[in-house]
Parts: sequence; structure tokens; C-alpha cells
Amino acid sequence: MSELDKINSIFNAKIDNVKNKEELQNIKTEFFGKNGQISQQFKYLGSLDSDKRKKFASDLNKIKSDLSNQIEQKFFEIENLEINEKLKNEKVDVTLPVRPYQQGKIHPVSQVIDEISSIFSEIGFSVAEGPDVETEYNNFTALNTPEDHPARDMHDTFYLQKDKKLLLRTHTSPVQIRAMLNGKPPFKIIVPGRTYRCDSDQTHAPMFHQLEGLHIDKDITMGHLKGCLYYFIKEFFEVKNVKMRFRPSHFPFTEPSAEVDIGYRIENGKIVIGEGEKWLEILGCGMVHPNVLKNANVNPKKYQGFAFGMGIDRLAMLKYGINDLRAFFETDYRWLSHFGFDPLDVPTNYRGLSK
Ligand code: DAH
Repeated sequence: MSELDKINSIFNAKIDNVKNKEELQNIKTEFFGKNGQISQQFKYLGSLDSDKRKKFASDLNKIKSDLSNQIEQKFFEIENLEINEKLKNEKVDVTLPVRPYQQGKIHPVSQVIDEISSIFSEIGFSVAEGPDVETEYNNFTALNTPEDHPARDMHDTFYLQKDKKLLLRTHTSPVQIRAMLNGKPPFKIIVPGRTYRCDSDQTHAPMFHQLEGLHIDKDITMGHLKGCLYYFIKEFFEVKNVKMRFRPSHFPFTEPSAEVDIGYRIENGKIVIGEGEKWLEILGCGMVHPNVLKNANVNPKKYQGFAFGMGIDRLAMLKYGINDLRAFFETDYRWLSHFGFDPLDVPTNYRGLSK
């Protein structure tokens, strides 16, 4: 057997047993490396006489290209095997259950603020905001609240300074003053926001939310107020009809003033808003007092209009059957996952117009 045949058969025996790229690389070095068997034969070729050299050179080149082809082919074989192996091990089982993940929830108060903003924006109201820390002037004085009014009492109001000049706003009404001082009539705004009073029990929290409404123009009447509130209540509670009554009341910033009650009944232990023999008070309202307009640089001889204020938390409790106000602010995740809303959980009256 010639030297080249020997090399060939050693190579064949080895290449058949190669299992991975590393072993293949070793064979490549053994035969084609600097001192590899094939390289040795090229050196040997140089020492041959010219008559033998031609034939040997052609045999050597043939075996060289044959062996390197085999190495290349083996390389692809191994690579294929490795990929298939990987695919087998890494295959995705789409029938497996998804991994649990925690999704945040929209707080019922945020949800209700969105719903309310959306409903009022349908009839031309825009959303205004004001700061939680207010001046005594905006919160009381400009709103025509007498110096000796009980609402100014330390027991109700969180004052931030001894001289009582700054406080945590006790209602959203001061934003009426801010809006009017900062713009020109007509005004048509709603103001959702946080409000503060020294109070805490099942239906009162020291921080709670109110919604203020203000519509000032040249010929706005109580009829507009009634129509606006009737529309809002129907839309918010998603009912076709709602019994509504205005009860005379008193607020320093409106004249005349009224409280609005809506009809309801209890059915299977649940409250049903709209019809029924019982009455539920839901908001305060009235025609903006001329003194308030004057204090906000609006001429009461030219302009008039209505204002209203309601508790957002209470509306959320009524609509979504929540009976303890304090739970709203305890940041208990279990409570929130029960009463909260998914980001895409859109109520039927939601028009997606709010922020
Ligand atoms: N600010 C009042 C309160 O906190 C609610 C209110 C009543 C607001 C009548 C108004 C209004 O704008 O006209 O109890």
C-alpha cells in the first residue's frame, strides 16, 4: 500500500468517528497542519526525481482535495446535527399555562374622574385644576364666606400657618375664583380634585375628592343648571330616567342655593338609582353669588351662571357598590384588585375623551 493510500485509510477511519467540531478540528490539524501528514507529503514531493514527481504530485493533489472536501462535508453534517439537537431541546410548548404576572389596576376614584370628565366634555365643559394648598382668600373670602362662618373653624380646616393665610383647600370651589381671575368669560369648567377636612369615619376621610362645576355666561339660568345635572346623573348612573329634586339650601357662594336629591330604591339588598320612594342627597349647587363674580373680576351686571359641587368618592361608592370610604385610601392591593379597573375596561358610557 502506498504512503498516500495509507494516509487515506487512516483518515477515513478517523473521520467516520468524528462526533463534534472540536474532533474535526483536530483531524484537520493532524492532516493539514504545518507538520500534518499531507503537508509532510508535499515536502517529500520536493525531494523526488522529476520523472516520479509528476505522478505523485497529481495523486497528492487529488487526495488533498478529496480529504478537505470530506472535512467540509463533515463540518456541515455536524452543524446540522447540532441545530437539530438545539431545536429539539428548545422547542416551545404553546400549551403550557402562562406565567403569572401582576397587572396594575385603575383606582375606582381615577376611573370615576375619567368617566365624569368624559360625560361633561360631551356638553362643552373643559377640565380645570388648582393646587391643594390654597390661600384663605380663595378658599373662603372670595367665595363670600363670612369671617365667622363655621366652615372656617379650626375643627374643620387644616391650616398650614398660624396666621391662617394658607390652608389645605376644604373644597374645589376656590378653583372657580382662580379660573375666573385667569381668564375672560364665558367660563364652562369642571374641576375634579383632592380636598381636605378634619374628619374621619366610615363615610368621611380627611382627604377626599370633589368635583366642582362652573358655567358663567350672559344668560345662564337655573333651567340650564337643572338640564345639565339631569343629563349628568342619567349618563353617570347609566339609567334612562332619574327622579331628581331641588331642595332649597344655603351656601355663601350661591344665591339661590339648592341641594339635589335623586330617587332610589333597594332591590335584593342593592341600591338602584333612578326610580323609587327614597331620596339620596348627591350635590350642592346654585346661581353664583354676585359678590363671588365681583371678587373674581367678573361684572355681575353682565354675567351670571351656576355652580355645583359633589363628592366624587361618594359617586364611586354608589355606582360601584363600595360601602367603606376609608378603603379607598388604604392602598390595599387586594382591595384594589377587586374594585379596581383594567386599563381597557371601558364602561358603556365612556367616550374616551378625557386625558
Ligand atoms: N363647596 C361645597 C362643599 O364643599 C359644595 C358646593 C355647593 C359647591 C354649591 C358649589 C356650589 O359650587 O354651588 O360643600
